[in-house]
Amino acid sequence: LPSLNPAVAPLAWMLGSWVSEQDGQGEFPTISSFQYKEEAVISHVGQPMLNFTFCASNPDTGKPLHRECGFIRIKPGTNHVAFISAQNTGVVEIEEGEVQGEQLTISSHSISRISFAKEPHVQQICRIFRLTPDGKLEQTVSMATNTQPLAPHLRVTYRKASS
Ligand code: HEM
Repeated sequence: LPSLNPAVAPLAWMLGSWVSEQDGQGEFPTISSFQYKEEAVISHVGQPMLNFTFCASNPDTGKPLHRECGFIRIKPGTNHVAFISAQNTGVVEIEEGEVQGEQLTISSHSISRISFAKEPHVQQICRIFRLTPDGKLEQTVSMATNTQPLAPHLRVTYRKASS
């Protein structure tokens, strides 16, 4: 395995194969709340970026649901982070923000979608990733759509499945 590029050392706490510990919790004002399972793989190949895949599924049936994959980069010499994601719903987005200690706080500044993406369309995405004192990874996602202002959509805590 190549050694970690020093540029992404501030994000090293995100690395690993993670699986939701209890089910993730989903909500939004316009939908019924739901639970989901998610596997998150955050890895590197020695380049100055992290690679990620997040794969959600129905916790009862295992049916695959939301999936996304992309890259996490840092502006060299700063704590300024860019998060680049392609989602199976036909959305691609870039979020930017800051890593401070073991917390990454980002929000979208660019969202695009395929011409036949399902409505309503997401207009804004904000995420917080955090490592808990007991070594678990948390992700929370809020979003705004063309019908709803910013509101929580997802909350999940992952335990490390392997490093
Ligand atoms: C609904 C966006 C991640 C499960 C929605 C809606 C949007 C959306 C725009 C429609 C809300 C409405 O009808 O008002 C996103 C974005 C995500 C994301 C941008 C990632 C950043 C996930 C994940 C799951 C999930 C990881 C896990 C299974 C659902 C479900 C619904 C929903 C079950 C309601 C049923 C449906 O419309 O398909 N999401 N979502 N979403 N989302 Fe997400």
